[in-house]
Formats: sequence, C-alpha cells, structure tokens
Amino acid sequence: MTTPIADFVSEYAEKHTVRLHMPGHKGVGAAERFDITEIDGADELCRPEGIILESERNASALFSCPTFYSTEGSSHCVRAMLYLALYGGRGPAEGSKKRVLASRAVHASFISAAALTDFEPVFLPADDFDGFGGGVPTPAAVRAALSGGGCDAVFVTSPDYVGSMCDVAGISAVCREYGVPLLVDCAHGAYLNFLDPKLHPMALGAAMCCSSAHKTLPVLTPGAYLHVSEEYAGMAREALFMFGTSSPSYLILSSLDRANALLSGDYPELLTNCCQQLALMRWELELAGWSLAGDEPLKLTVAPLGRGYTGDGLYSYLASNGVVCELHSKKYLTMLFNPYIGENEINRVGRLLSSLPAKEKIPDDTPGSEPVIMASGVRETMFGKKETVPVEESAGRVFAGLVTPCPPCVPPVICGQLLTEHSVRLLKYFGMRSVIVAAR
Ligand SMILES: Cc1ncc(COP(=O)(O)O)c(C=O)c1O
Repeated sequence: MTTPIADFVSEYAEKHTVRLHMPGHKGVGAAERFDITEIDGADELCRPEGIILESERNASALFSCPTFYSTEGSSHCVRAMLYLALYGGRGPAEGSKKRVLASRAVHASFISAAALTDFEPVFLPADDFDGFGGGVPTPAAVRAALSGGGCDAVFVTSPDYVGSMCDVAGISAVCREYGVPLLVDCAHGAYLNFLDPKLHPMALGAAMCCSSAHKTLPVLTPGAYLHVSEEYAGMAREALFMFGTSSPSYLILSSLDRANALLSGDYPELLTNCCQQLALMRWELELAGWSLAGDEPLKLTVAPLGRGYTGDGLYSYLASNGVVCELHSKKYLTMLFNPYIGENEINRVGRLLSSLPAKEKIPDDTPGSEPVIMASGVRETMFGKKETVPVEESAGRVFAGLVTPCPPCVPPVICGQLLTEHSVRLLKYFGMRSVIVAAR
C-alpha cells in the first residue's frame, strides 16, 4: 500500500529548503524536520484532493468503509460523530431536544458533545458500572429503551477501558429495527478490524465509529479515525472541521499514512499470533487463581482483590520489575499488549504475576455507580453560572463540571446530575477534593 504523505514529508525534509512558512521552528530538530504545514503539494485535511485523499482511500480500503483521519484523537471524532448523527445536514431539531441513548461508560468527550451539540443523554441501566468498567449494554436493554420512543441515536463504548465489549452486531440489529443510527466509541479497538473474523464495529453493523489509532496501532498520539457508513460520508469532513483544528499535524498524518502499509502487510498475522499467546496467558492466570475482567483480545485486566492484591499494588510491583501498565486502581490493573511486544516479554509478565502467592482477600469497598438523576440539561448546566465547592459540601448540588480523572476519563458523575451522599463517596474515591457545581 502506498504511503504518499510520509513520502512527501520525507522528501521535503531532505531538501533543506528555507522554510518561510509555519511552523515557527522552521524544521530545526529531529522531529521538527518532518513537521510541516499545508504547503503546495501537502494537500489539506479538511478538503483533500491529493496525498491526504489518497492515503485516506487506502485506510478506507483497509477498513472497508469511508474513513477519515483526525490528528486530534477519538475525542474529536466523538463530537463529530454525534453532530453528524443528530444534525448532519438534515436541519435543526424539530420540536423537542435531541436525545441520545448511551452506555454509562462514556468518555468525557461524549459529555462535551452533549453540551456543544445540545442533546440530552439517556443512560442505559448500569447497576454494575464501577467507574472503570461494567454496565455493558445488551441488545435487550437497548430494545427496551428504544421501544419507549424519543431517541435519535444510540451511543455505546466498546471496548471499554477494562476491555469489556458489547454485542455490537445484536445492538446494531435492534437499532436498524427502530431506525436510529448506532454510534460506537471504539477508541480502544482499531485493531479489531484485523482479526479473523473481524470484530470491528463497522463490520458488525454500526452506522459510525471512531478509533484512536494511537491507542492500539503503531501510530503517534493522538492519530485517530472516523469511520462512517456511506450515507454519512458526504458530511463527515464538515463535521470533523466543525470541532477540529485548521493546523493538522503532519507528523501524525504521516504516521497514520505509514500505518496503512504496515496494516496491509503482515500485521494481521502478527496480531493473530499475539492474541493466541495472550489467550494462553489468560488461561494460565485463571488456572492459577487470578480473576480477569473483560474479553478484549489485546487487553488484559486483572481484578486482583480476591487474591489479596490491589491493582495499585500490582502496578508498583510490575513497574519495579520494568513493566509499566496502562491503568491501575484499587480494583483493576489493565495491560495493553500488541503484536510488536515480543513473546518473551509477554511470558515475563505472566511469570511475574504467577510468582505472586495468594493472600487474604481484600474487601471491595469501591463505591460503585448510582442511577443518573439529571436536575438540569447538560448544555444549560455547562454554560450556566458555576462555582467550586469542597467535595464534602457538594451533596444536594448540581454537578456542572467536565474534567474527569484520567484514565479512564469516564465522568463519575454527569454534568447536570444531582449530587447525592453516594456521589460524594464516588468523587472522593476518584481523588477529587473540590467540585464544580451550578451556582445557586
Ligand atoms: C473510551 C474512550 N473514548 C474516547 C477516548 C478519547 O480518545 P483520544 O485520547 O484519542 O482523544 C478515550 C481515551 O482514553 C477513551 O478511553
């Protein structure tokens, strides 16, 4: 597969031209040499006709659907996707406010999209959502919610941060029945397209999905894809530009471009091997008494309390042995593998965990979720008058913030939600000392 953006940028870097254009570093520095702007020949991300278009067509062929690049992460694509689904050139909302049925484990960008594009989230029941994982919606739950009417789109996160995946095929069938688009936040799952059979949301019937290429593929942070079905392709660039920069990074575009060549090469084979090794390690760990969460092939989440360890403790133990993991909390430790991590390293992690003896069970005192009771709309609250109060004094107030502990960057409480004593425990659990609330 061709790499037109990477080729153009490399050739330009080799020429040692006098750069009387942006950026201000003028190409001085190892990475800066390749960091250019939209000069002649470099094309334009918001209306590509040359090298970017060719590269995006390569990506579209790989993912078997219209695919658009973002150099601003899935956060950018989530906002574009919701705008596209709710408005997308079809005119303003008629009558009542737009409503989006959503899984509880949404990323903060979903909430900022609600404020910016003015929709109300309606959360699916999620009794076992614990701030990180759980609360995975089923087709039956989506059907029950849609049968009441009044929802304009369904939005699910799959995989979630700890690696749980939804039945996207089942949910998309229900959505088709009710005539609403299914949007999948697949930030953690770009690689799912390269499994056999494919587990990527677009292959399973979603109307749109976004993936952070940088999270699981060999791509610079925060390179991402917006994938859409044909009916949304015409307005997709407009939607991305609405929320994005006019100065896309060519370092990231080149990286997305180079990834096409890798992904069309031996990547699927390497991925299959890696997933097989991980499946074996998963089996061995379970046999040794470790509890695992999630079912995503490249992610391994240990839920270690039952074996007498915390996720935080395991993180420090592995870090002191030269292994740094993605997410840790009292309840979980999440590790992200990929085909470029060698077999020896994978086995070493397995050995490090297996060598730990079972200890007395640690009680799970994480506060868990509560039903989201909205006191006012997301947009009204986000753009309304606010004040900051100590967490201890926030019960009875309306949460009006967005900044969220990251990872997992899933808001423990939602902007517009009425805070309770339980919310206070939850916010404290996530280390928040003060909280933004609607002013009285
Ligand atoms: C589920 C989910 N969606 C979206 C995002 C945003 O992705 P990005 O960091 O690429 O903007 C994240 C980031 O962690 C995420 O976990």
